[in-house]
Amino acid sequence: MKVDVVLGLQWGDEGKGKIVDVLANTYPVVARFQGGPNAGHSLHFEGKKFVLHTVPSGVFREGSINFIGNGVVIDPIIFKEECEGIEAMGVPVKERVVLADRAHLILPTHRIIDAASEAAKGKSKIGSTLKGIGPTYMDKTGRNGLRIGDILTPNFMERFEALKNRHKDMLKQYDFEYNAEEREQEWLDAVNYMKQFTIVDGAYAVNGYLNGGKAVLAEGAQGSMLDVDFGSYPFVTSSSTTCAGACIGLGVSPRNIGNVYGIFKAYCTRVGSGPFPTELFDETGEELRKQGFEFGATTGRPRRTGWLDLPALKYAIMVSGVTELIMMKADVLDTFDTIKVATSYMVNGKETQQVPYDVYAEVTPVYTEFKGWKKDLTKVKSEDELPVEFKEYIKFIEDSLQVPIKIISLGPDREQTIVR
Ligand code: GDP
Ligand code: IMO
Ligand code: MG
Repeated sequence: MKVDVVLGLQWGDEGKGKIVDVLANTYPVVARFQGGPNAGHSLHFEGKKFVLHTVPSGVFREGSINFIGNGVVIDPIIFKEECEGIEAMGVPVKERVVLADRAHLILPTHRIIDAASEAAKGKSKIGSTLKGIGPTYMDKTGRNGLRIGDILTPNFMERFEALKNRHKDMLKQYDFEYNAEEREQEWLDAVNYMKQFTIVDGAYAVNGYLNGGKAVLAEGAQGSMLDVDFGSYPFVTSSSTTCAGACIGLGVSPRNIGNVYGIFKAYCTRVGSGPFPTELFDETGEELRKQGFEFGATTGRPRRTGWLDLPALKYAIMVSGVTELIMMKADVLDTFDTIKVATSYMVNGKETQQVPYDVYAEVTPVYTEFKGWKKDLTKVKSEDELPVEFKEYIKFIEDSLQVPIKIISLGPDREQTIVR
């Protein structure tokens, strides 16, 4: 069996949660491989809505295994809250969620350092979700971190105190008021709660699933343009959001990767700072935000909005070897007379298809225009009901990207999905 991977190709919030939930009925295992509670993955089904931050989006499927891989960073407080919410919906969450012992823990002081560091950056802040993601990955690569497996060891408290004191020393460099102990008891209680879950050696577990005939769906968080290497650094997150991240974050060989599903919205959004070439600052941008309900699932912040960006998509497809595309939220464009798509950029007076290295470069998109379809797509049940203008729009995208669009999502609900 293989690991198929679902990846956001833009700046996150493409609709990964919805699609993973849709696909999860054909995968016995769904696995998160990077990121942490900076993610907010929304699921709509049977008139209910649920936002997941740490738990994989297969959790509402009966009999599913929802694996949290070594590449993920976990805040026990958020994890506990989330699991209790899922359990309240009658889902046996402790049976369905499995934790890798090598996943790192987000301490309360990681969150404080995140806040202090962002505050110190002033105008050049990243716009972090302030969940402690950057500081936790820093401790991981700096070889100071605490892992899930450590919570079962006798000297855990000693190591926790040592790391906390280290953080307090670091915080001396900031002019930032904090109380390191404020959430400590709650955090320790949540750590205890985590002990009720199955904790495994992740690489053996995932390879065991594959060898035992269980296909794995790897659920990416964030998006390719937020990748720590390939995104618009430093306006990125701190993990590998591309396909290679699934190998590292689960302990599987690249040879075991099967399909790579690349998800994109029919337009673009971004939360937080950093370049966004096709961003709209006018009424059209406002309309996209309104129609698409573009407000963060984790922080509630309004998302920046703009037209579809093909050079950025091509780049993301190249880096991850995307085999199939999934287009989300085209219904948001239902009322638009004209729809634009960026096909190249003008950078320093030269036309290019490449995403520039310099995040401060002035990039002017070159657009192709399409006539809007002006039809309610949310009720469309099959491909032959799709308006001709819409078919032209997706044909153009497929031809430009040279990858087929296999799924079209036309509404937030599980049912509003067309598989081609
Ligand atoms: P994720 O982080 O990639 O899982 O995406 P989010 O959940 O943060 O944001 C996607 C938002 O769009 C959520 O509110 C979804 O319920 C919603 N959504 C997903 N697919 C569609 C769609 O096809 N049409 C519309 N209108 N909304 C969608
Ligand atoms: P999902 O999985 C959209 C953005 C933040 C900020 C930058 C760094 O729901 O698509 P961090 O908290 O990681 O230090 O923030 O990355 N960001 C996201 N934007 N969707 C997400 O996740 C995001 N996770 C982080 O807004 O600009
Ligand atoms: Mg999201």
